[in-house]
Formats: sequence, C-alpha cells, structure tokens
Amino acid sequence: MDRMYGFIGCGNMASAILGGMLAGGVCAPEQLMVYDVSAEKCETFRQKGVFVAKDAAELVRRCDVVVLAVKPQVYGSVLEGIKDAVDETKILVSIAAGISTDYVKKAIGFPCKVVRAMPNTPLLLGCGATALSRCPSVTDSEFEEVSRLFSASGIVENLPEESMNAVISVNGSSPAYVYLFAKAVIDSAVAQGIERKAAKRLIIQTLKGSAKMLDESGMEPDELIKMVASPGGTTLAALNSFSDDDFEKVIDNAMMACTTRAGELAK
Ligand SMILES: NC(=O)c1ccc[n+]([C@@H]2O[C@H](COP(=O)([O-])OP(=O)(O)OC[C@H]3O[C@@H](n4cnc5c(N)ncnc54)[C@H](OP(=O)(O)O)[C@@H]3O)[C@@H](O)[C@H]2O)c1
Repeated sequence: MDRMYGFIGCGNMASAILGGMLAGGVCAPEQLMVYDVSAEKCETFRQKGVFVAKDAAELVRRCDVVVLAVKPQVYGSVLEGIKDAVDETKILVSIAAGISTDYVKKAIGFPCKVVRAMPNTPLLLGCGATALSRCPSVTDSEFEEVSRLFSASGIVENLPEESMNAVISVNGSSPAYVYLFAKAVIDSAVAQGIERKAAKRLIIQTLKGSAKMLDESGMEPDELIKMVASPGGTTLAALNSFSDDDFEKVIDNAMMACTTRAGELAK
C-alpha cells in the first residue's frame, strides 16, 4: 500500500513542503492528508486533491509520516491531542524552532520515531535549504524517506540534534536577515538619488550572482571579498566602515539571540 504523508497545520511551511512534494513527484495528491484549525486553509488543499482529516488524531491514524507544521507555542496542545494515535511505526517530523526530539517523545509518552527539521520559506520556490536530524529509533531508510520530502524543494543537510537550535540562524530565519540587508541597501540607494525600482533590481541580481559565485567558484568568502576590494578603492572604503561598526560582531550577536530564543521556546 502507498505511504501516506500528513501535515498538521497548513500555513506557510506546510504549503511550501507539500507544494514541493507534489511538484517534484515525490507522491501523488491522494497520498497526502492535512489538518488545520482553519477550514478555509484546508479547503485550499482539498482543491488540490489532498485529503482533509476531521482532526489531528485521525490524520495521525491514517498517515505513516506526520509533519507537525504548527507554531512552537501550540506544540504542547497538538501533541496532547495526537498522543493516543501515535504508535511505534509512525514517524513524526518536527519543524518548529526550538522543539527537540526529546520534547516530542516526552509529550507523546514513549520513545516514538522523531525527525527534527529546520526548513526555510524559499522552499516555496523550490530553492529551499533544510537541516535534518533524527533520533536513534528512526532507521536509515525512514530518514531517507523524510529527507526526500524536503529535497524535492531544495538542498538538505544532516546535522546532529545538538546543532538544531544554532542552525536556525543559518538557514531557517536567515532569509529575513538577507531581506533586511537588501532593504538597507535599497533605502541607502534611494537616499543617494537612485530610483527604488532600479536599486531593487540591481541588489536582487547582485545577491543571486554573489550566491552563485560562492557556490560555484570554489573560493572562500575572504578570497571573493579580496577579488572585489582593490587597494585604496571604493569597496575597501565600505569594508573599513563595516569593520569600524564591528559588522561581524553584529551578525554574531543576532545569531546568538536567535539560538537563545530557540532554547526558550521549548520550555
Ligand atoms: N516560516 C518560516 O520561515 C519557518 C522556517 C522554519 C521553520 N518554521 C517552523 O514551521 C512551523 C510553522 O510555521 P509557519 O510559518 O508555517 O506558520 P503558520 O503559517 O502560522 O502556519 C501554522 C498553521 O497552523 C494552524 N494551527 C494553529 N493551531 C493549530 C492546531 N492546534 N491544529 C492544527 N493547526 C493549527 C494555524 O492556524 P491559525 O493561523 O489560525 O493559528 C496556521 O494555519 C513553526 O513551528 C515554525 O517554527 C517556520
């Protein structure tokens, strides 16, 4: 019989992962089931040929792999509602910031199979980046199965569980940092008389091109910086200004704040 994949919570991340699974041919719509407190959101998925469960417990009973795609703040109540439906064959995938595999197992009441995932919103466009870790009861083939759900929409990296809070600021929430950088560049360009639309187009292409250079040149960030910054030139003037403002410390502080918050969310 075909494996069934379920999503509890039909928000941004569920839409992104599920959309990628369908587009990538990982499974057919009839192998998918969703449940959300919002009937309207469920309806959108029903129109794509996906089953809608009457509640989260029914979804768990009917699915082999269940992605818990709700906010960390409601994890406790969602796990309480499904715990009687979880058995030793079900694979639970926790995508919430800060929610550990131990937290899930404790709430379910026995050492069930849990994979922890940290995806990001670019999955929506098929260019996501997902970090995955698993607890010991998940077999290699089960882990590969979960990995396929995410690799349909981008790249996947396997990490030890102890890195899963720290990785949030590397791929999960970092798209927001990149947007903030882009916004600051556009605002400064506008203040210097450049039309907003032109500035936006130029920085978008520069971000794409720079990411491609990092990906394909085989060079380290420092080497690529050197390629742009000629002695006594304009780039160096900007880099010196970044250095005066301790840019790298600013980034480190923000990433540490993200990791600290992840630790608080599971309490
Ligand atoms: N967004 C990101 O960039 C990102 C990146 C990595 C990981 N994550 C993680 O992904 C998870 C989901 O994030 P998201 O951005 O997709 O959130 P979201 O868009 O708010 O989606 C969550 C959905 O779950 C619904 N919901 C709330 N309580 C529920 C319940 N008891 N049972 C079933 N559904 C319920 C919500 O409905 P209401 O809106 O009516 O409450 C909403 O439709 C979070 O844990 C987050 O940490 C997000």
